Amino acid sequence: MKIIRPAAGPLHGSLALPGDKSVSHRALILGALAEGRLTLRNVPSGQDVRSTRTCLAALGVRFLDVPGAVVVEGAGLSGLRAPGADLDCGNSGTTMRLLTGVLAGQGFDSVLTGDASLSRRPMRRVAGPLERMGACVSLAEDGRPPVRIRGRRPLTSAAVRLEVPSAQVKSAVLLAGLFAEGETEVDDPFGTRDHTERMLAALGAGESLRRRGSAALIRPCALRTGFAWDLPGDVSTAAFFAAAAALIPGSSLALRGMLLNPRRLGFFLALREMGGDWAISGERETGGEPVGDVVVRHAPLRALRVKAERVPSMVDEIPLLAVLAAAADGESRLEGVGELRLKESDRIAGTLAGLRALGAEARADGEDLIVRGPTRFQGAALESGGDHRLAMAFAVAALAAHGESGIADAGCAAVSHPSFFEDLEALR
Ligand code: S3P
Repeated sequence: MKIIRPAAGPLHGSLALPGDKSVSHRALILGALAEGRLTLRNVPSGQDVRSTRTCLAALGVRFLDVPGAVVVEGAGLSGLRAPGADLDCGNSGTTMRLLTGVLAGQGFDSVLTGDASLSRRPMRRVAGPLERMGACVSLAEDGRPPVRIRGRRPLTSAAVRLEVPSAQVKSAVLLAGLFAEGETEVDDPFGTRDHTERMLAALGAGESLRRRGSAALIRPCALRTGFAWDLPGDVSTAAFFAAAAALIPGSSLALRGMLLNPRRLGFFLALREMGGDWAISGERETGGEPVGDVVVRHAPLRALRVKAERVPSMVDEIPLLAVLAAAADGESRLEGVGELRLKESDRIAGTLAGLRALGAEARADGEDLIVRGPTRFQGAALESGGDHRLAMAFAVAALAAHGESGIADAGCAAVSHPSFFEDLEALR
């Protein structure tokens, strides 16, 4: 049980953000499939990204730890080797789904497993489109892991249209497209995060990668490295600190080197609509992604309405946004958030239970989450359910609460940001 005392005064500080989790998974995977060395600075130490690295190492990819960086020794498109055992993806859905795309097109078989939470998550969404490319992917009867892949090389190209708003599924298809004959198309009408597309371009995919409307099209091509990237700071991790500064009167906080990819900025845009005060300076680019420094200041918040089409741009921040909505003045409605039931835990149930324990009025209405404020949070016993995003969202609420709170199983924050609680403490 992690005990959180309320903030006695404003939060102040400047935080160098760890590398973005989504971007880091892709940098490790695409670096492994490239030719040459890719030097990555600011690789996050969270367990999820570690899972990707461990799985790639079991596939024969070499990594060198040098001061301040990880060097990926690219194996090229033909360089992966059969693993000697099942590949353990831990808690990481991104590891499992993206590697399924890669492994479908190999000349060997493999099995992907995960922890209890990952073993409950749906994998048909990724197996289905890959099967249309001739892949052999079998799942447990209910469509859950383990994922058993009979490698087949080459795959056949296909035109896939996403049926669920999942960047993981889109990325799995694009990665499989590197091992398919002809051109593979994946249409993403939801506008999910585009880190894979950007990174393929930054690794020299050139004419082999095209965009047509909401679709991305890929042909097999050699990816070239030989350079160093500073991974952009994790915008989803930044959101927790930004929310804490927004909530606690008098606070002011600098978040350095934050990813500014427009498809990931939904939470920050929602915060601004609520009356939140934040500004960007020092915009720059790294590895095809925009980054900048962000300063967030406390401001009184008002309720907001988020339409379903905006959810992919803030999908991991919805529980946190619900915390802000509970503190804000008026009734907020977060529409079309049903995908949250399929994350590391049922995040709708977990968010509602946490908010109610904190004294807030919140309910689900079909796929929508409705939260009424302003709530003066009361200290509470909170259940993370082993879900890192819930543990961190509740910690933010607990800082703004009246009285002490406890968060059960809060160590799961290490999935994305192991020093989360220390970093939060340092801002007091
Ligand atoms: C991710 C995509 C999202 C997100 C997850 C990371 C990614 O999942 O929730 O934390 O890196 O592609 P879905 O693609 O299932 O929406």
